Amino acid sequence: MLKQVLEQGREAADAAIDRLLPSASKHPTSIHQAMRHSVFAGGKRLRPILCMEAGRMIGAAALVSSQTGSPDGSSAAALPAGIEQVGAALEMLHTYSLIHDDLPALDNDDLRRGRPTCHKAFGEAIAILAGDALQTQAYEVLAQIDCPAEARVAIIREIAHATGTIEGMIGGQVVDLEAEHKKPDLATLEYIHRSKTAALITASVVSGGMYAGATADDIALIRTYGQSIGLAFQIVDDVLDLTQSSEQLGKTAGKDAAAEKATYPALFGIEESIHRADALVDQACAELNEYGAAASTLKDLARFLVERKK
Ligand code: IPE
Ligand code: IPE
Ligand code: MG
Ligand code: MG
Ligand code: MG
Repeated sequence: MLKQVLEQGREAADAAIDRLLPSASKHPTSIHQAMRHSVFAGGKRLRPILCMEAGRMIGAAALVSSQTGSPDGSSAAALPAGIEQVGAALEMLHTYSLIHDDLPALDNDDLRRGRPTCHKAFGEAIAILAGDALQTQAYEVLAQIDCPAEARVAIIREIAHATGTIEGMIGGQVVDLEAEHKKPDLATLEYIHRSKTAALITASVVSGGMYAGATADDIALIRTYGQSIGLAFQIVDDVLDLTQSSEQLGKTAGKDAAAEKATYPALFGIEESIHRADALVDQACAELNEYGAAASTLKDLARFLVERKK
């Protein structure tokens, strides 16, 4: 069941991204090739999938309350029409963050998603511009998504804030870099992980919910779920960096220790880090109990995030 969600979600996201990105033959071709090189290199598409499944859950919950009044096995409800476009925009933003994360001035990585990083394949200037271009393309897409204008503006604001400097992706990346080669304290480590990674994951589920017409109460629950799975996700990313091979990950393993990054395993060790990630997933799932069976896919996805091996 989850396998199907992951596969179908990935296909829907890929088709939307392909449709919404300029073709590789469009002038100036180098930038479009670079954007597509990094986007279509085999990412898991977790942010689009989380967005779409949050939308499905809210749609299913609304359907159930208008019909029988009690949640049933409605996780088979259809996806809200057009929601894959929000997912595509999220994946463009995520891929922009990866291209820039890999630059020599940041993590200086050669391998990403099993391919040479964007700057290795296209040079640093084009890689910087490809990241910028994925960001602007994402907002062009978001400006045209097919939902009420008020929700569209709220989604754009949510995602822009989550990728910005105040407890957002860029702010987290700044503190991540500034924390290298220092003994991490828990407050700084949490700030880094919540900002650089959990913020965009949270915005993914929140925007999916908003697209499907979530109420303020729904958004509050989805947000707490997103914050918990987002932090768990980065803890697991840190653990995998230590426990898996570069071949398995499709990115260079063992980089965090080499750069003396502030990570959970550096502070707590591997076992305690996994324990904390598991506890966060339990908390996240508990947030969604009131949605009954409609929440089963988001709960399964939360578990998948900590059990994944890449
Ligand atoms: C990697 O994200 C970067 C982090 C925020 C830890 P993913 O593990 O989702 O990478 P892809 O998209 O599958 O390549
Ligand atoms: C990156 O965290 C988070 C981003 C905002 C891209 P990492 O630096 O740990 O991600 P990987 O391990 O290179 O994918
Ligand atoms: Mg990094
Ligand atoms: Mg990195
Ligand atoms: Mg990492």
